[in-house]
Amino acid sequence: MSAGDPPPPIPGARLLFSLDPAVAYLNHGSFGAVPIGVQRTQQRLRDEVERNPMAFFMPPGLTDRIVHTRRHLAAFLGADPDGAALVPNVTAAISLVVQSARLTSGDEVLLTDHGYGSNDLAVRRQCRRVGASARTVALPLGASDAEVVSRVRSALRPGKTKLLIVDQIASATAKVLPVREIAAAAREHEIPVMVDAAHVPGMLPVEVDRIGADFWVGNLHKWGYAPRGTALLAVAPAWRRRMEPLVVSWDQEAGFPLSVESQGTLDYTPWLAAPAGLFTLRTLGIDAVRAHNAALAAYGQRVVGAALDLAPTDLPYPGTAEVAMRIVPLPSGIATTHPEAHTLRQHIADKLTTEVAINAWGGRGWLRLSAQIYNRAEEFDRLAERLPPLLAALH
Ligand SMILES: Cc1ncc(COP(=O)(O)O)c(C=O)c1O
Repeated sequence: MSAGDPPPPIPGARLLFSLDPAVAYLNHGSFGAVPIGVQRTQQRLRDEVERNPMAFFMPPGLTDRIVHTRRHLAAFLGADPDGAALVPNVTAAISLVVQSARLTSGDEVLLTDHGYGSNDLAVRRQCRRVGASARTVALPLGASDAEVVSRVRSALRPGKTKLLIVDQIASATAKVLPVREIAAAAREHEIPVMVDAAHVPGMLPVEVDRIGADFWVGNLHKWGYAPRGTALLAVAPAWRRRMEPLVVSWDQEAGFPLSVESQGTLDYTPWLAAPAGLFTLRTLGIDAVRAHNAALAAYGQRVVGAALDLAPTDLPYPGTAEVAMRIVPLPSGIATTHPEAHTLRQHIADKLTTEVAINAWGGRGWLRLSAQIYNRAEEFDRLAERLPPLLAALH
């Protein structure tokens, strides 16, 4: 295999998923795709609920199973099993953390311009409620780790900044931020740090506790093959007693993490089926899956970039080769706003039967390609062939 070749496919991998064979699904990053075996596991759990809802929900059965699942997922991610809570998604965790941070008038939350849009909305709503403010530090796409740390460090305002939120792998740019070093810089000033690691579980090896963040949250339903609605929020010891659940239910007095996990009558089967996602990953060989996905995403970026007449230097490198998402800049003037990005994504889905992510970031439009074991190099080749005329027709 030469440097320009795609990785060899993982035989039979597409058959593990229920994806429409007519669609090139190059956007695992947005909502994941659940392997059929994991779907079946969840369905068996749902069947169990329906056989006798009382037996399923009443203590101690469900609680024990939640604790067992949480411990399993926490061990996989290198997080303290007693200091992590199952939550539905990163979105819920962000609201939970900004609420628990007890911001008051005059305080500030620091974000980066790589952050996820709805995180920004959640932070700004909480700031409005209490008279705090949000500020954004700009991090150039090509900034080195040292430059990122230096920019974040200079943006911190000790005494005023009461929370810093950084992505471990950014959504719009796929950039990997040096979260461990950023957390260390913030710790020097006792500024709490939350890491949005939505894409990390399953994609990157991680030891959450070694990052040293106050809060870290990762979705298992993207690259961890779990059913949607499964994320793990790890909380540093100093904060655990201060966590204020968004939804108050019967386990409120039990304290973190059960107080956060217990939310009344809800479908808990995604959480209980999540270990089957990790089992799938391990059975396939986690290193093989990671190496395949990262190499195929890099291949996709190369062929689509070349088709758009971009030089290799125009194609952003995520910071580490292990990332299974890559971005390609779109010709200037295309998809420079969120509504335009949304329209273009839909247009590509309709005309090319190809699912991709399109984001407006830093004043221009970006195509984001994800690669997963069900993808083939030919799907990226076909996009490379058909995207340039589609974009040309937009002018
Ligand atoms: C970096 C990042 N943060 C947060 C989210 C939101 O995830 P969820 O919808 O599962 O809450 C996403 C979703 O793609 C993301 O990429």
